[in-house]
Amino acid sequence: MAVTQFNLTCSKPRLHSSQLSFLSRTLPRHRHCSFAPLHRTQHARISCSVAPNEVQVPAVTTLDPKSKADCYGVFCLTYDLRAEEETRSWKKLINIAVSGAAGMIANHLLFKLASGEVFGPDQPVALKLLGSERSIQALEGVAMELEDSLFPLLREVSIGIDPYEVFQDAEWALLIGAKPRGPGMERADLLDINGQIYAAQGRALNAVASRNVKVIVVGNPCNTNALICLKNAPNIPAKNFHALTRLDENRAKCQLALKAGVFYDKVSNVTIWGNHSTTQVPDFLNAKIDGLPVKEVVKDIRWLEEEFTEKVQKRGGALIQKWGRSSAASTSVSIVDAIRSLVTPTPEGDWFSSGVYSNGNPYGIAEGIVFSMPCRSKGDGDYELVKDVIIDDYLRQRIKKTEAELLAEKRCVAHLTGEGIAVCDLPGDTMLPGEM
Ligand code: LMR
Repeated sequence: MAVTQFNLTCSKPRLHSSQLSFLSRTLPRHRHCSFAPLHRTQHARISCSVAPNEVQVPAVTTLDPKSKADCYGVFCLTYDLRAEEETRSWKKLINIAVSGAAGMIANHLLFKLASGEVFGPDQPVALKLLGSERSIQALEGVAMELEDSLFPLLREVSIGIDPYEVFQDAEWALLIGAKPRGPGMERADLLDINGQIYAAQGRALNAVASRNVKVIVVGNPCNTNALICLKNAPNIPAKNFHALTRLDENRAKCQLALKAGVFYDKVSNVTIWGNHSTTQVPDFLNAKIDGLPVKEVVKDIRWLEEEFTEKVQKRGGALIQKWGRSSAASTSVSIVDAIRSLVTPTPEGDWFSSGVYSNGNPYGIAEGIVFSMPCRSKGDGDYELVKDVIIDDYLRQRIKKTEAELLAEKRCVAHLTGEGIAVCDLPGDTMLPGEM
């Protein structure tokens, strides 16, 4: 068992952050000592807002060997929630892990998670932020901004670069981190590079996360990354893994509203079928505007089949052209929508799109891939597939194309899913929405 001496001078004691974490828990609440996080090769920094000689802690402390390495700053202090009048009706704290936590999407998302707008105003949250060696400084910056925001519901923030530590007991894992496709990089290379990341994260979730963790994969190519992740996490139900296609659904709703001249809250029952790629199929056949089938409101079939479909498929690229980078704010909003769709009951008669494991689907879509389909939820974090949708020849033909693309991606990552030797015969038109 490790024993260390706590240096009270606010200089730079050589403590690992697990030691600091423990020590912070032993400090009286009113003393605000802020411990900068460590990762394994760094030394701790400690800064105190009380004069060093005011601090009274034991000179020699026994460390809890199970304490984790990476709580951040003010979040290392412990709070007695029972003592706080306003927290009496709060729910039990939930652990939310976020990868790519120093990136742009996470920068929007984390503050929404901490504010209560995602899980509700009575749901305290612990944020567990996963970064990389390269991003650790930026991650500290994110944690500092979270500290300074004084969110009442934000009870813990921890940061780290080891998924086995960060994913410990995670009940939600929002996996955003991925390498973007660089110049000259083949799609097969991207599938392999990001696939390695998602295989490792799947193994880590399998080892340390809650057995019922819900996983939303955002990093591209998200459907196949989600497949790799779930295949590397056999102890977690495959049904718990999602690839984010909610952004595509939101984009489709916006375009339909624009064409019909209605506010976008009038558009419902929009399914995105298949891959989060330019083969995705935004379904206008089953979609409704003000409760009516879209085709009864928008009579321009050529627009629906060609312009609308292509606009949604390539919206990410159009945005990159304007912004010079891919969508971050709207992606984070769609992650919020995706979570809220799972934790609140789906409105009667409506549904939402999510990329889910295709086994047992009622649409005749190939099994063993992660395919976006229409889902409904009772609000318990789980979902069921919607049965009463119409699939005509137009839709079937396009669903086949996006299915073929996902099957090709799957063959290309067989070495990462435990299904043998990879064979990469990706169709030429396989592109992410942001690639043109
Ligand atoms: C998007 O849809 O905007 C992103 O997935 C961009 C991309 O293609 O990486």
